[in-house]
Amino acid sequence: MKPIQVGLLGIGTVGSGTFNVLKRNQEEIKRRAGRGIEISMVADLDVARARAVVGPDVQVVDDARAVIQNPEIDIVVELIGGYGIAKALVLEAIAAGKHVVTANKALLAVHGTEIFAAASAKGVMVAFEAAVAGGIPIIKALREGLTANRIEWIAGIINGTTNFILSEMRDKGLDFDVVLKEAQRLGYAEADPTFDIEGVDAAHKATIMCAIAFGIPVQFDKAHVEGITQLAAADIRYAEQLGYRIKLLGITKRNHKGIELRVHPSLVPTKRLIANVEGAMNAVVVHGDAVGTTLYYGKGAGSEPTASAVIADLVDITRLHTVDPLNRVPHLAFQPDRMSDLPVLPMSEVVTSYYLRLRVADEAGVLAQVTGIVANAGISIDAVLQREADEVGGEGSTQTDLIILTHETREGTMNDAMAQLQGLPTVLAPITRIRKEELN
Ligand code: HSE
Repeated sequence: MKPIQVGLLGIGTVGSGTFNVLKRNQEEIKRRAGRGIEISMVADLDVARARAVVGPDVQVVDDARAVIQNPEIDIVVELIGGYGIAKALVLEAIAAGKHVVTANKALLAVHGTEIFAAASAKGVMVAFEAAVAGGIPIIKALREGLTANRIEWIAGIINGTTNFILSEMRDKGLDFDVVLKEAQRLGYAEADPTFDIEGVDAAHKATIMCAIAFGIPVQFDKAHVEGITQLAAADIRYAEQLGYRIKLLGITKRNHKGIELRVHPSLVPTKRLIANVEGAMNAVVVHGDAVGTTLYYGKGAGSEPTASAVIADLVDITRLHTVDPLNRVPHLAFQPDRMSDLPVLPMSEVVTSYYLRLRVADEAGVLAQVTGIVANAGISIDAVLQREADEVGGEGSTQTDLIILTHETREGTMNDAMAQLQGLPTVLAPITRIRKEELN
């Protein structure tokens, strides 16, 4: 049988990885897919670079629409990224009856509802394993492997850049700005790292996992997004002393009122495996009611790890494209007419525990005032750590750091308590609040 024909839109890092892995492992992949998979056309603005990657036998053009309109092409792989032209091209490819593979988390997190609806109407597949956690097959695991479960929560290190920065901050005791510059010099962080360090990239990925886990539409606009730019080396050190590491987690969770969807730095007990995921690696923990807690670990970015996910999608489509569209695995795991309207909750309704660091006057009664406010708010304290004033502010200092770990409470309750604490004349600086996840 003639190989299924694939057209790439963009042949940068992931595209060239896809071309190379497909070529290197073609026999093995064909034995699995039941049919050859051939990249026969590539569109890239840099035609010379594309030609250098694919050699003389693949048609190279500078116009993506030439790929989409080519009747010989069965699957279009979108590797352009972003919400702009990529959205128009994906919708045009669907309208032209092509199956689509994309690594574009931003596009799906923001416009997924429109894109999946268009694909369903046209009877084509949109596959996106590479959009979340690169080479880790987390979409496959959530959508198929864990399909028996009522998923309770997911927590993931799903941005390698920020995990690299946090690992360096902890290892070397350095502040965020210093490590970011070093990460940029080494190529671990982009020249404009905003999407990574502000948590936006992780929130795109968490949004997609949330939709698949709970069978709700993708709702990036409802995600709480907080990055790592405000983290101080002191908090990483104090967390360590209390038995925790600080990680940027993408979290989605059921609580009794709805669905939590949030990205923010979190204290995680050092004894959890995920707390020991270092450098640019990714890891996702999924808790299902039947299976319990499962952990997926691997490279979340890079040429061949991401290509591994793109090609897995190509194999799926090759196997399934002749199947009645109604019998394929639904895009978001649940049948489109059985999606839930569970709300994504505002942050004030999130339930979690907390690390608070207060810079206080080192004088009699301060600890009692602070713990009194926390207790009156109905928040239970788990642990308190107070440093020697000399250690914090130098010889003869009259200030010290008071660290409080709490048990779970509503974020709205914590906001009220923090406002009262901040009003105390003995609290001398803005309070640092970091959420804490036990993940047990
Ligand atoms: N920039 C991402 C990261 C990889 O640092 O993990 C692509 O999503």
